[in-house]
Amino acid sequence: MNHVLTRAALAAALTLAAGGAQAADKLKVGFMLPYSGTFAALGNAIENGFKLYVAEQGGKLGGREIEYFKVDDESNPAKAAENANRLIKRDQVDVLIGTVHSGVAMALAKAAKDADTTLIVTNAGANAITGPLCGPGIFRTSFTNWQPAYAMGPVARAKGHQTAVTITWKYAAGDEAIGGFKEGFEKAGGKVVRELSLPFPNVEFQSLLTEIAALKPDMVFTFFAGGGAVKFVQDYHAAGLDKTIPLYGSGFLTDGTLQAQGASAQGLLTTLHYADGLNTPRDNAFRADYAKAYKAQPDVYAVQGYDAAQLMQSGLTAVKGDFAKKEDFRRAMRGTTVDSPRGPFTLSAAGNPVQDIYLRQVDGLENKVVEVAVKKLADPARGCKL
Ligand code: BEZ
Repeated sequence: MNHVLTRAALAAALTLAAGGAQAADKLKVGFMLPYSGTFAALGNAIENGFKLYVAEQGGKLGGREIEYFKVDDESNPAKAAENANRLIKRDQVDVLIGTVHSGVAMALAKAAKDADTTLIVTNAGANAITGPLCGPGIFRTSFTNWQPAYAMGPVARAKGHQTAVTITWKYAAGDEAIGGFKEGFEKAGGKVVRELSLPFPNVEFQSLLTEIAALKPDMVFTFFAGGGAVKFVQDYHAAGLDKTIPLYGSGFLTDGTLQAQGASAQGLLTTLHYADGLNTPRDNAFRADYAKAYKAQPDVYAVQGYDAAQLMQSGLTAVKGDFAKKEDFRRAMRGTTVDSPRGPFTLSAAGNPVQDIYLRQVDGLENKVVEVAVKKLADPARGCKL
């Protein structure tokens, strides 16, 4: 018997061996999230949600084990490009997961596009990411800042409010949320009479609250999140404004914050793509698993992280874990329906969820679902050219 391999057989054996080694390699996932500062709790919830889904799949996605890399972006746009490149160039991650702050996320999206690294945005709503910055490798499992805020416009008009004052942090998320609300509210016949703001992440609200009291609008619409949202709701209540001028917001105002806000948040109405009390088998199972794993209730941020892992799973399953098939991986993700705890959603051509926006009301420690405010709301994706 001839034990000498021909050249062709040797080449084939080497190719097979290389393929086998590649399949055995771990998939590198880079978390760029805030682990300090006003959005720290949000970053942790996203990571918890992502890892919960991976744990439910036996610790693998598409049959591949995962190796995690982490950077604390501190919600600091000035450090964003450098932080993104640590994950892209130093750690050479296969997929980027992040982040929370819109300004940081825009720099992250630019770096991801330049390097052709797949990015799944797990919170930041910057309209530009699935607008002018859109691309085949850019995905989002959260929302655009426009989406939940726009949905509140017709809701507020239906409650009979004619005039509104808005208040937010002066940065992309705040500006765009106010823009979304204004579009929805004025289209429905209302008028935004004053737009108030303060720099991110300041929480010195007193002079602006005095201005609101003097303006006497029918209602106030706001975008704040994390620690800033806790303080704003407490200050609004302490000033007694909630007795005369109802406060509304994008749901971040009361998500993951109710324990700290206590009595000051009771009864608040907000719009968001997730709510408590959906009572679907999918959401109930997710909530039970999350509570068991982390001894805490999940919030919208945990859902967005969980769904990023689900989205990756759909892409990796399609390519049988072979990440070299990047285009097929991305195509499969774009075409999937994510079986989210929020309810199933698809992605628009720009890569943003087309999803129901719920009206919720704070009741104790829950943002209880009242109704679907807008069904299957798609962001207009202005400026996206694919
Ligand atoms: C943002 O910057 O896009 C953002 C931050 C926290 C909650 C929601 C949006």
